[in-house]
Amino acid sequence: MDHFEYRDRELFCDDVPVSELAERYGTPLFVYSEKTLVSNLSQILTAFAPADPIVCYSVKANGNLSICRLMGRHGAGFDVTSGGEFYRAQQAGPATAKIAFAGVGKTDAEIRHALENNVFMFDVESEQELLTIGAIAQGMGRRAPVALRVNPDLPPKTHVKTDTSVKGVKFGLDIETVVDVAKGVVNHPGLDVVGLHMHLGSPILKVEPYKQGCAKALALIKAFRDLGHNIRYLNMGGGFGINYRKDEAKPAAAFAEVILPAVKEAGCQLVLEPGRFIVGNAAVLVSRVLYTKATGGKHYVIQDAAMNDLIRPTLYGSFHRVWPVHPAADVPLTPDVNGDPDDPSPFRAMPNCFTQDVVGPVCESGDFLAKDRPLPALTRGDLVATFSAGAYGMSMASNYNARLRAAEVLVTGGTHRLIRRRETFKDLVACEEDCLT
Ligand code: LLP
Repeated sequence: MDHFEYRDRELFCDDVPVSELAERYGTPLFVYSEKTLVSNLSQILTAFAPADPIVCYSVKANGNLSICRLMGRHGAGFDVTSGGEFYRAQQAGPATAKIAFAGVGKTDAEIRHALENNVFMFDVESEQELLTIGAIAQGMGRRAPVALRVNPDLPPKTHVKTDTSVKGVKFGLDIETVVDVAKGVVNHPGLDVVGLHMHLGSPILKVEPYKQGCAKALALIKAFRDLGHNIRYLNMGGGFGINYRKDEAKPAAAFAEVILPAVKEAGCQLVLEPGRFIVGNAAVLVSRVLYTKATGGKHYVIQDAAMNDLIRPTLYGSFHRVWPVHPAADVPLTPDVNGDPDDPSPFRAMPNCFTQDVVGPVCESGDFLAKDRPLPALTRGDLVATFSAGAYGMSMASNYNARLRAAEVLVTGGTHRLIRRRETFKDLVACEEDCLT
């Protein structure tokens, strides 16, 4: 469960009215619930406890230092995909935090820095990368801990832009050749092949892909061991889906049910890299209505958040619930959304609502947070909340149209703290050299 609820027709985050935060910090504003963050992490730790899992929070979902610090404090390591994310994890995590480093294009400098800083494991995505890591480690008189990331070649299971385990994507080593690659580095003086890595894609709403992936992983682990590699870790990546609509997602325990038996059979320690599951429903994006207008037979709500704050609807056609912070007495308290993701029309009839698009100020027709949604009438100054905005919201935000990136606030019970200030116009040009004056 998350800690956003309506009390007396007003949206609260934990014990704080969201409107109070909008007044204090301005809009657009990401509002995070600490209780939700911690309880989502602990749901995973509990569900997978029999495997004594190493849960590496995926920094790409939301790299805010305070959120990373919270994760580290509650027992998480980190999954990173760049030198920048490695830096974030180091800044915020405890010294003992385990940092797993994935990504198809690690630079030599990133590899060296990670080795110097005790990287937990590299999730290796190509043969050239493997040999490069081996050579760099050898030159440093070290053996690099690596997990071979395999593309298990499964049927499509999520959006084409975020499905990482179908044939033909850039991720991982081909399942047909990965054993040969492993064979080629037996006794390599700079490499210690410690694990198998598999990230299926994101978000995944069914457990079957994990079942299929685990079956393939077991066969590969056996083959690697037969070659003489001492495989200690099975890393099943991230990808657990969340409720963007209503109740379409599975609890962590459902994924544990299919993953735990494989981990036991493999005799490995389990590594997981969840991001969205932890932070996705731990935030709303709060914005203020600037104008409404009717044009071309459509009704538009123009508010001050835009695709530069939350690009998921524009980029993937993703669905985020959008609803007023203060729903009027004659409208439903929350949007009546059907939780079946295969149903193209997720809405039921909602009284006193009419079809509207929720758009931002950016100069693109693709700039929207919600399209063709039943919403109550809104007026200038009203606050609206875009739900499930914690994952891949701020981390994918940009300054497009020279818009200032939003502020972020963390709510803990009845208190709140600014965890990222709103940018200023000076920030916009801070990296530029104004040399033609
Ligand atoms: N591990 C690896 C190797 C990954 O590539 C990812 C996500 C994760 C873990 C974390 O996945 P999660 O648990 O958060 O699903 N921007 C897209 C999602 C891109 C995911 C990229 N990789 C979106 O907004 O839906």
